[in-house]
This record gives sequence, C-alpha cells and structure tokens, in this order.
Amino acid sequence: MKISLDYTNMMADTVGAEYGITDDELQSLHEQTRSIHSQIARRRQQGELPFFDLPSNQEVVSEITSLANDLRQQFDNLVVLGIGGSALGTTAVLQALRLSHNLLGSKQRESLPRLFVLDNVDPDGFSTHLDLCDPARTGFFVISKSGSTVETTCQFLIARQWIEAAVGDAYRDHFVLITDPEVGALRDLVRQEGYRSCAIPAGVGGRFSVLTAVGLLPLACAGVDIAALLQGAADFSEKVCHDDLETNPAYLNAALQYLAYQKGLSISVLMPYSDRLRDVADWFRQLWAESLGKRYGTDGKIVNVGPTPINALGTTDQHSQVQLYVEGPYDKVVTFIAVDKFDRDLEVPRYDASPAMTYLAGHSMGELLRMERLATAAALTKNHRPNCTINVLQVTPATVGALIYLFEVQTLFAGYLFGVNPLDQPGVEEGKQFTYALMGRQGFEEKGQEYASIQARQKTRVLNC
Ligand code: PA5
Repeated sequence: MKISLDYTNMMADTVGAEYGITDDELQSLHEQTRSIHSQIARRRQQGELPFFDLPSNQEVVSEITSLANDLRQQFDNLVVLGIGGSALGTTAVLQALRLSHNLLGSKQRESLPRLFVLDNVDPDGFSTHLDLCDPARTGFFVISKSGSTVETTCQFLIARQWIEAAVGDAYRDHFVLITDPEVGALRDLVRQEGYRSCAIPAGVGGRFSVLTAVGLLPLACAGVDIAALLQGAADFSEKVCHDDLETNPAYLNAALQYLAYQKGLSISVLMPYSDRLRDVADWFRQLWAESLGKRYGTDGKIVNVGPTPINALGTTDQHSQVQLYVEGPYDKVVTFIAVDKFDRDLEVPRYDASPAMTYLAGHSMGELLRMERLATAAALTKNHRPNCTINVLQVTPATVGALIYLFEVQTLFAGYLFGVNPLDQPGVEEGKQFTYALMGRQGFEEKGQEYASIQARQKTRVLNC
C-alpha cells in the first residue's frame, strides 16, 4: 500500500465526543455519497470534469517530452510566468521530485536547466531572478488559462522586452505560451506571432491543471519523470472513483473534514513531515480555499461557507504553530502527511563529551522526524484535537501523482458536501476588475468610478510614524 489514510484520531472514541466524529455521523453520509458519486459520474460522461481523465492521456507525454528535449538543449534557465493554478502545482512537484534543483551545480543537475517559478509581480523579486540569468540562454513559459491575468501579462511584457534587447527578432524562440486552445490574448498572440504553444484542455481550470502541459512541460524540462507522475495518478484513480465512502480515501477525507467543519472546526491544517512535500501543502491550500470558499450555494442561496486551509511543515512549525493547535481555540483539524521511507537517512553519531546528547546516539534523523510527528499527534489527541495522517510510502513520481489526484477528487467531492461549486472563483473577479480600472484598462471606467465612490465614502485613518 503506497498511500493510506489513518483517521483514528478523528473519531469520537479517540478524541472525545465534542469534536470527534462518530461512526453514525459517517454512516449518515453514505447515501449522499452514492448520490454525489452518480452525479459526478454523469458529469464525467458528459465531458464536464476533464481533469479526471488527464492521467490516462499518456499521448501527451511524447509530445511534451519532445518539446522539453528541445528546450533543454536551448536554455540553461527556464522561467515559469504564471500565478495561482498556473504556478503552484509546478512548484510543489519540483520541490517534491527535484529537491534543491536550482541550487545544484550544472554537473549534479546533469546539465538540466534551472527552473524558476515566478508567481508574483514584486519588482525586487522579479528583477533579482532576471539578474541570475543570461537572456541568450533563458526561456520562458507564459502560462495563463484565460490569457489575460494581469500579473502574468505584466511579467510577459517585461520579459519579452528583456529578451528582445539581448537577441533581437529571435525573441519569439524564447517563449512557449501555455493557454486555452482557442481563445484569449495569449492564443491570439500565438496565431499572430508564431510563438510555440501548448493547449490547456478546455474545461480544466487553473487549480486542477498541474497534470496538463501547465505543470508537465516545465517539470519535464527539469528532469521530472512525467510519465511516472501521470501513471501514479492513473493507478490511484480506481481507489478514488467508486461510491463506497468508507474505502474511498478522497471521499472519506472530504467527509471527515466536512463533519469536523460542522462541529466548528473551520480551519484545516495540512502539515507534511517532509521537506519534499512542503509545497504540496501550499498547492493544496489554494485548491481547497478557492474551490470551497463561496458566498453562494449551488441552490443560489447565500451560504458564506468554506474551511480555511493552513499549510505548515513538520517539524519546523512545531516551534511556530503547534502551541496554537494544541492549546488555542477548538477550531482546527490537522492532517499530517507522513513519509515512511526517505531517499537518504543520517545516523546520529555518539558524542560522549555531552551526557545530555547521548540519548540520540544510534538513532537516525528520519527516525527523529517520525517520532516528532507521532508525539505531536499524541499531544493533539490528548487535548481532544482531531487529527489524521496521510501516510506515503516514499516520495516518488508515482506517489506524488497519486497525492495530486487524491486531493483533487477530495476537493471536488467536498464541494458537493458543502453545497458549492468547487470549479469557479467568482470572489476573485471583483478585485481583478478594480485592478484593471486602476491600471487604466479600457472598458473598466465604471469600475473605476465605483472604486472612487467607495474611497470617497471612507473616513481615512492613517497613522504616520
Ligand atoms: O485556479 C484558478 O483558476 C486560478 O487560481 C487561476 O489559476 C489563476 O487565477 C490564474 O489564472 P490564469 O491561468 O487564467 O492566468
């Protein structure tokens, strides 16, 4: 078993009746689960949920591998320009499967290009990264499903000029545009200017797109075995595509989180005990937040619902967050991700000069990490704090693919339980439109007036220090 879900400490018989979940509560969701499952199956058949079928599309691998091979020859540095779902999955998988890739020397990296994922428009951060790169040997992935995201557009325009200044008309060869197959400003540019491009399949939204060219192309360039990543997800799909709540880990974990939320545990912490899996928690944070945090339910009524996801890292955040988790308000459920087998382990040597240190002798660093996780789970459990653990045998392309698939299906199913549409994100639109207005984009004049009238109504309170 490569992945398992240990939910012992979620249950009332372990953490107590007030916050723990009872077998009856789980059973009360069985019928609803079957009904949700058949709705999902129907929508899949109608082609409405294409993310489910991405892992079985192995054809994409040869196409992407061939382009990746060209890009590896051409460039020493590759840079992802994108944000949200266009960036976080790539960062997560890169960290998991090519730990410290960019810090390794060229020989240790087997001459593979460095891969930077720039998902912000902070001019300090952006220009510092450009400073690290020789433009003649740098390529960019411009990734945007909509083709119009302001941050990505801004990054692209600056990068394009930077490359053009160095290589002249050949600048087009330094960009691969990954966007909608038919529409949007980036697709129009592909048609007009002849950039190389990849399509994000229609119907696959940003946060469900890591297993498309969005993630696969940059990751293949950095040496990730994308065939094994997809195969891991494909192999895992049978575990999460059936309607038995008690044996489907995606449905079960969503149900546990949902029931915990009903008991007032509205904060959901994901805490891998693994540097490699650190950014999987960051990717999941966006997936969970943007999918489930909604004003309206699918019935059109105002619900203002959604668990707040927090990402943490064991053991690092034991010295930062765990005090709050163990003793603070009863509003959290903690999910640990445990790794059974590390690629390497380090034995702690004996050092008799300090008697206070000898207890560690003969143990390993991996063992310490494991024991600290068990100790943290015990502290939470003793204090009636529900927690569960996703055990991963080892961090490999296959298990990372499986984890991605698990969390995506879990999120979709949770959307149904919470009664919201997990595939949209209307709440981010308002801010986007104000931004367009403030940046003078044509067509957003009314939004600009609305912004001005909100400002006019406000009594400014600024403390200058
Ligand atoms: O998950 C989502 O849909 C979002 O996070 C998007 O990925 C993000 O807003 C970027 O959008 P786009 O890919 O259109 O540039």
